[in-house]
Amino acid sequence: MSALTESPAWGELQQHRHEIDGLKLRDLFKQDAGRANKLSVSACGLTFDYSRQRVTQRTLELLTNLACGRKVEQGIAAMFAGKTINPTEDRAALHVALRNFSDQGAIDWPLQAQGEPVMAAVTETLERMSRFCQSVHAGKWRGYSERQITDVVNIGIGGSDLGPRLVCQVLQAQSQPLVRAHFVSNVDPLALDRVLAGVRPESTLFIVTSKTFTTAETMANAWAARAWLLQAGGDEASIQQHFVAVSTNAAATQDFGIPSQNLFGFWDWVGGRYSLWSSVGLSIALAFGMDQFRALLAGAHAMDRHFQEAPFLENLPVLMGLIGVWNVNFLNMTTQAVIPYSEALNQLPAYLQQLEMESNGKSVDREGAAIDYATSPVVWGGVGTNAQHAFFQQLHQGTQAQPVDFILPLVKADDGRQRQLVANCLAQAEALMRGKNADEVRAELLSRGMTGTQLESAIPHRVFPGNRPSSCLFMEELTPATLGALLALYEHKVYVQGMIWNICSFDQWGVELGKQLASQVQAQLDSTPHMKPADLLAILRKDT
Ligand code: F6P
Repeated sequence: MSALTESPAWGELQQHRHEIDGLKLRDLFKQDAGRANKLSVSACGLTFDYSRQRVTQRTLELLTNLACGRKVEQGIAAMFAGKTINPTEDRAALHVALRNFSDQGAIDWPLQAQGEPVMAAVTETLERMSRFCQSVHAGKWRGYSERQITDVVNIGIGGSDLGPRLVCQVLQAQSQPLVRAHFVSNVDPLALDRVLAGVRPESTLFIVTSKTFTTAETMANAWAARAWLLQAGGDEASIQQHFVAVSTNAAATQDFGIPSQNLFGFWDWVGGRYSLWSSVGLSIALAFGMDQFRALLAGAHAMDRHFQEAPFLENLPVLMGLIGVWNVNFLNMTTQAVIPYSEALNQLPAYLQQLEMESNGKSVDREGAAIDYATSPVVWGGVGTNAQHAFFQQLHQGTQAQPVDFILPLVKADDGRQRQLVANCLAQAEALMRGKNADEVRAELLSRGMTGTQLESAIPHRVFPGNRPSSCLFMEELTPATLGALLALYEHKVYVQGMIWNICSFDQWGVELGKQLASQVQAQLDSTPHMKPADLLAILRKDT
């Protein structure tokens, strides 16, 4: 047994789980007409409705006891104090510093990472980004044939891709970009080729985004883009007009041929999947302007303050984190679906997959001991309403119930379809909660004239068990600020869960083995000119 599973708070939650086993969500709503209001909280332009989670006031009380026992309050303070909360890499995790600005743009707190002040460097980098964007937008920064830059291509993967890709997709739905932004992450040549086919070399700027500047996929794509530019008429000198880097590894960017004035740096205390708010967001600022980027930061900052200040039962990240722990560890749910009812947010499940699974997909605790409880669920999802016509069957009637986060931004202009979208979202949450029992199915079929054995045999297929948990996150409007708040909410939720599970949420050692093996296997493939399945099997059988 671990300290966590031996703790009194954990034991009480286990006991409580048995006590509420027979409780049905639909009965809880019947017993308490005010349940939806009681179990919803608003902050930073978001309303979190968790009334359809299988929790009672007692569950919440016990979960907050657990949070107190796991010193969540102290953990939050440690994050904002820039303490070494990433011990296996001996680093702070201080992404909150990247957005630590008041509404007027002034520095809000004098934050330090492991005792070193950071805000001057953060401010200076933002100012450099701003000046760079202005010169590109004003046509002062031009391509090799003096053409104005019309397209930026972000080459990066994981945290150096998913965040800016998601934000640009959202902003694109609302306004025309100042320059078009494209994203290349996969090392499959098709990914880069597709983008290059739609841009002109003279007016394209590549942003090579890589914290380490050693990530194999990104470097391969960056070298391929460089070769394309040279082949298309650029010369070595033109590289500096067409390539900028976002990285913490200045030496490697220089080796690539990117001069120091084209480097936008960040710091080791910014984890890759938490780096959207740093110069990793350069593609956002170039495409939609610095004001939009700063509005995104401001929304995230509002959530940071909320996370720091709100009591646990009104604190969105804490509540979300605790409910997730309840679902994973006590209701034994192994996945978490994320369903945005917004086409603009269709990249959100992929973004959250990395955030949650790379952060909390761990099986040893902070001290390195094997743990005896589940950690990160498998995060997956898709956009509503499409998802309804694809995998919702399993959510409603499958043998394994899984919790769902519905994300619903409200859009003002509407020709009826927006209301249809909203109606569908609410209906799905309600259907999962309420279900439909055999008596209700029977009554419905009888009213349609079905009788006898035909009726009886139809019933089981039409029964919905219900009692399936979901939360709704309503956003009054999808703006850069509410998007920033939403993403910061999930970041902090992940940290809360990491604290409860006593795991290191800010490292990712589990990605290393595959990288090592890939380079060994690639060396063998280099001597296999015609790859056939049999060759691949032979390589796999060799001791790599
Ligand atoms: O391999 C995983 C990972 O290290 C992620 O954590 C990171 O976001 C991604 O690769 C990209 O890393 P980099 O920015 O160093 O290229």
